[in-house]
Amino acid sequence: MINVSVTDIGDIGIDDKWNNCDENELIMHSIHAYPAKFPAFIARKAFSYAEEEGVKIESVADIFCGCGTVALEAKIHNKSFLGYDINPVATLIAKTKSNNYILKELKSYFKIIEKEYEAYAPDHSVYESANERLKYWFSINNYIALLRIKHAIEVAIPRGKYRDAFYCLFSSILKASSHWLTKSIKPQVDPEKLDKNPWHLFADQYQKFERAVEQINNCNLLNQRINIFTQNFIAKKSFEPVDLIISSPPYVTSYEYADLHQLSSLWLDYTDDYKTLRKGSIGSVYNSDGFNLQLEELNNCGQRIVQELLGDKQTPSSKVKSVARYYTDMQHTIHNCTKMLRKSGMAFFVVGDTEYKGVKIQNSEHLIECMVNEGFSDIKAAKRTISNKLLTPYRDNAGKFTSDKSSRTIYHEEFLISGRLF
Ligand SMILES: C[S@@+](CC[C@H](N)C(=O)[O-])C[C@H]1O[C@@H](n2cnc3c(N)ncnc32)[C@H](O)[C@@H]1O
Repeated sequence: MINVSVTDIGDIGIDDKWNNCDENELIMHSIHAYPAKFPAFIARKAFSYAEEEGVKIESVADIFCGCGTVALEAKIHNKSFLGYDINPVATLIAKTKSNNYILKELKSYFKIIEKEYEAYAPDHSVYESANERLKYWFSINNYIALLRIKHAIEVAIPRGKYRDAFYCLFSSILKASSHWLTKSIKPQVDPEKLDKNPWHLFADQYQKFERAVEQINNCNLLNQRINIFTQNFIAKKSFEPVDLIISSPPYVTSYEYADLHQLSSLWLDYTDDYKTLRKGSIGSVYNSDGFNLQLEELNNCGQRIVQELLGDKQTPSSKVKSVARYYTDMQHTIHNCTKMLRKSGMAFFVVGDTEYKGVKIQNSEHLIECMVNEGFSDIKAAKRTISNKLLTPYRDNAGKFTSDKSSRTIYHEEFLISGRLF
């Protein structure tokens, strides 16, 4: 990592240290797919880097914890952890990955679930009264099979972490059990897709979970505090202090997390209408309704980019408003980080730049300016190439995601940015 200022972030070269992974990831890291999950070794390397820089790390936070990559690495490295994410599916996965389980109990719960699944035979007429969106995504046979699994989980296990873990496994098989186009980052039906048997998917996923738990239980771990909350980080008013924040903020107008997790949020009864979960989600194109564009509230980089996108238009398009809203939200985010970090603590962010209609959306430069304005010092950065993002990293000329690899690559590099609060 090298010292950078707001203006020279674009000039730094790729640092191989942040590209290479020397160890295999724990099985638990892949128990549930999650868009824009970062590789676990980034968290591991960030711990060593922060320690080399003199941070004494007892507590770690991820303010956009997603599926809990940092949470699990903090647990494995015997650090306490605090995580927030606005998406309830994210926090379900993050909690499942970082909780402690007794293998014997898991096995006995699975046996009961299997029995209850066999015993429950709902009438096919239940499909008629199902949520319309679920009917859109699932064939009648798979809907009924999933209903039987969910019912079996609820009958077999009392509320608590074991039931939640089985809900997480259930959630992880929903896309494969549906008409959702495999690996698509948009909610898109694949009319050719053949139905897979949900019970087989669930049982396989359970076997994987057993192996994942066994692997973790074989590590010598202290019982550190891990707390994960479904929470809009910007709306937070009080903060528990931590030594290190590691986080990858959402990108502007890229993933619609609420839309991408609609199968899980509908099945798990987080909502009847997944669109309500878009509210407050940073970077969502649907999060700028009612947002009043006030250029003067943006920092220099934010103003410059929004001006460039506006061109000679007087009224901002919804996309321009989304970018402005994103920058405002990120300014609040960094402000809140300063309230959360202990003296001499470090914030470490993973962020990439994007492009829209030929205008570079410089999230990295904007983030550094936010950090400088909020009193961070010793700001350092490195650049890495992205090799294994879960979902397609390509965008077409209109800035839309595409699987066509001949299109411009936008997300093939990202920045690691650290700063200290003294
Ligand atoms: C890039 S992802 C983080 C991925 C994570 N590093 C992982 O490995 O899974 C960004 C996350 O920010 C969350 N998010 C968006 N707006 C938020 C808000 N206002 N408060 C908290 N989390 C938010 C999204 O739900 C998403 O999970």
